Amino acid sequence: MLLKADQKPSARYLTELASSHPCRQHPLFAHLRTRTLSKEQAVSLLVNYDAHATLLRRLLLKAAAFMPEPAVGFILENVRNEYGNGDYRLCHQGQLRSIIDHLGGGAGFVSAQAITKGVRQYLIRIGELYCRKNPMPKLCGGRAAIAAGAITATELMAIEEFKAMQVAFAHFGLAEHAWFDHVNVECEHGEESLALAAYFMQNNQGCEAVEFGFQQTLNTNVLLYDGLLEAIMPST
Ligand SMILES: [Fe+2]
Ligand SMILES: [Fe+2]
Repeated sequence: MLLKADQKPSARYLTELASSHPCRQHPLFAHLRTRTLSKEQAVSLLVNYDAHATLLRRLLLKAAAFMPEPAVGFILENVRNEYGNGDYRLCHQGQLRSIIDHLGGGAGFVSAQAITKGVRQYLIRIGELYCRKNPMPKLCGGRAAIAAGAITATELMAIEEFKAMQVAFAHFGLAEHAWFDHVNVECEHGEESLALAAYFMQNNQGCEAVEFGFQQTLNTNVLLYDGLLEAIMPST
């Protein structure tokens, strides 16, 4: 669904699109909130989450490199957070891995965890939205505007992901772990990415490209959530 001529593009419009997209109702969220995970399932979830977050960090850096000069600043704080705000010991990957250690998943255990099919499919597709190789000439704003839409969809959905994961990890006494500061951090990233999207949507320029990246990323998130759910399903 593309913007109609009489619809003003706005942060609210994108937020509403995300709330009404099927990925928002994915069974992963209910499963995380209502089922008790075993330690093995929790580690499997984290290993798969780490695989997608690791790629997204690099894609974010690549996207920053081709943003127009005034738009780069909307991404820098996000990347700086990921890498520990100047202290790599506080990086987000380190926080995630400290939860795995807490759950008793050593290095050998982690490397034995499979990356699920859905997560692998997500990893293949998301790169084309953050860093499109072939720009779409029809779309004003080009690949930078498509990336802005993709980043915004990712950050808005990350808020929901962390809220649900925080409930699941409360069972292990980890609801207050530093990694779950993401519930707040992702709200800030959401605001910054909405400002990034708004930059490309000024005067309706770039709206179609932003919305294309946004919608396609929400569609791709269904694969991610399929894969994360697979990671925590009881083995039969
Ligand atoms: Fe993070
Ligand atoms: Fe984020």
